[in-house]
Amino acid sequence: MLDAVAEQIHIGMSTEEIDKIVYDVTTKNGGIPAPLHYQGFPKSVCTSLNNEICHGIPDKNIILQEGDIINVDVSTILNGYFSDASRMFKMGKISERAERIIKVTEECVELGLAAAKPWGHLGDIADAINTHARANGYSVVEEIGGHGIGLQFHEDPFVSYITPKGSEMLLVPGMMFTIEPMINEGSPDFFIDEKNDWTVYTIDDGLSAQIEYMVMITEDGVEVLAK
Ligand code: MF3
Ligand code: CO
Repeated sequence: MLDAVAEQIHIGMSTEEIDKIVYDVTTKNGGIPAPLHYQGFPKSVCTSLNNEICHGIPDKNIILQEGDIINVDVSTILNGYFSDASRMFKMGKISERAERIIKVTEECVELGLAAAKPWGHLGDIADAINTHARANGYSVVEEIGGHGIGLQFHEDPFVSYITPKGSEMLLVPGMMFTIEPMINEGSPDFFIDEKNDWTVYTIDDGLSAQIEYMVMITEDGVEVLAK
């Protein structure tokens, strides 16, 4: 799904066209877009631009412009199982600020993944992410995080990316959850769109980036199931 988006995303298209690609490719392959009608969400994918942290709603009037950065977050139901993954896309030439926040977010997710081990703790992942984000002058969104996933979209546990090493749930083989930190330029605080009740914006209008891997803890490591 994300590869299909990567091939087709371009300057001048609306985010609603991204929604159409996701709906069509998902349903043609026998899947169901998990976001569609999830707690009233109106579309098949989340598209979050620039100062939007997450849960952006595709819209025919939102046109991708040169310099935009956008997170496309795809979740699919297939044969009763849920998947969830997101990537950042760069529209043409982007600012150095935008390049840097995407690069550091990629590094954060990879460091989080490297810290995920059977019989470790969720906090090990969070600490690796938070430490790297802060060292680069960024903050990590606190109240919104990752989640267990499998037979439901959002299962226990809530996955924080700000908790200390050695804290939170024990990582046991077979556990599936997401690594999806939201990294902000300035404050970690946010507000939610009053009109649509979904889109989450940075409180200070700074840029925000997010990358999501869906992972499974195995007997001897961790497997990336979707990215
Ligand atoms: N895909 C998001 C996540 O990573 C959840 C989106 S909920 C929706 O958890 F309703 F906005 F789609
Ligand atoms: Co998720």
